[in-house]
Amino acid sequence: MTAKKKVMLLPGDGIGQEVTAQVRRIIAWMEEAGVASFELSEGLIGGASIDAHGVPLTDETVAACLAADAVLMGAVGGPKWDNVPFDKKPERGLLRIRKDMGLFANLRPAIVFEELAEASTLKRDVVAGLDIMIVRELTGGIYFGQPRGIETLENGDRKGFNTLVYTTPEIRRIGKVAFDLAVKRGKRVTSVDKANVLESTILWREEMEVVAKEYPDVALSHLYVDNAAMQLVRNPKQFDVMVTTNMFGDILSDCAAMLTGSLGMLPSASLGAADANGKRNALYEPVHGSAPDIAGQDLANPLAMILSLAMMLRYSFDLDAAADRLENAVKATLAEGIRTGDIMQPGATKVGTKGMGDAVLKHLANA
Ligand code: IPM
Ligand code: MG
Repeated sequence: MTAKKKVMLLPGDGIGQEVTAQVRRIIAWMEEAGVASFELSEGLIGGASIDAHGVPLTDETVAACLAADAVLMGAVGGPKWDNVPFDKKPERGLLRIRKDMGLFANLRPAIVFEELAEASTLKRDVVAGLDIMIVRELTGGIYFGQPRGIETLENGDRKGFNTLVYTTPEIRRIGKVAFDLAVKRGKRVTSVDKANVLESTILWREEMEVVAKEYPDVALSHLYVDNAAMQLVRNPKQFDVMVTTNMFGDILSDCAAMLTGSLGMLPSASLGAADANGKRNALYEPVHGSAPDIAGQDLANPLAMILSLAMMLRYSFDLDAAADRLENAVKATLAEGIRTGDIMQPGATKVGTKGMGDAVLKHLANA
């Protein structure tokens, strides 16, 4: 028996709770079926932590996440915490956990499942078969750059400012992640920047060229972010791996997500640097938010969370066969015509969050 996989669950707020409940059932099934053995622990993040401790993330929770082999997070935020001070907002918990765990590489795949090609707002032939990977830098750039703040000038006007800064090591390490992924995929990397305006991304572009020299089999191209946004909706299938800065990645990944029909389908992985034993900190989460408007009503689509678990099996535990099995169970569920409201189609069977979990479990058992 191999060692138990230490997994920390952070359900968070809103639908985070409900989608985590479905993942717990799948983990329990995997243990029973002998696929893997897990040691689960659980913590609070976001509004849930604000309510309990007055802060969106405690030092104890950070320590527990660092001690785990992998973290699986739901979602944070909601109108309930709209009026808490900026530095205590639920989102600050998420930004802190990324920074404290050193999760610099955010992998956001956008895959169109054949059964959902009609669910996109774009034409079927534009999106059918889409399989792109957005690699977003996650612990640097304008999200964390100093100085930042809001100041009052002598004349009484106010000034708000942030700093977009990248260093060569930061750019090279995210570049390597993108190229390593491309080697195993379509062997193409598109780096997205704004090098016609911003010096920090002139450096970004130059450093991506440096990294590319180590990967003679991978073709590197560059796009300005405005053009990249346009190309994503014009002809998304031209892309294989896209690598970009923290803020551009935030924006482009929402755009790419909608190509697939629903934010409710997309998982993500946030990875740190590998240590001497090859172990890396990792956090997995659905791309969707906490959707407070539908929370607690058994309406949320748990598939993004379930697919985040599949990413965890693959990237943190090298359990590729188990990940394939789980992803195939999701595909079989969609092929059977089971749908939550966000991906509902004419003639399909509408289910709730738990019903979707039931269907995936049924197909897992049959796989
Ligand atoms: C995301 C989210 C976060 C981000 C917010 C909630 C801080 O939009 O993960 O894409 O901007 O990174
Ligand atoms: Mg975002």
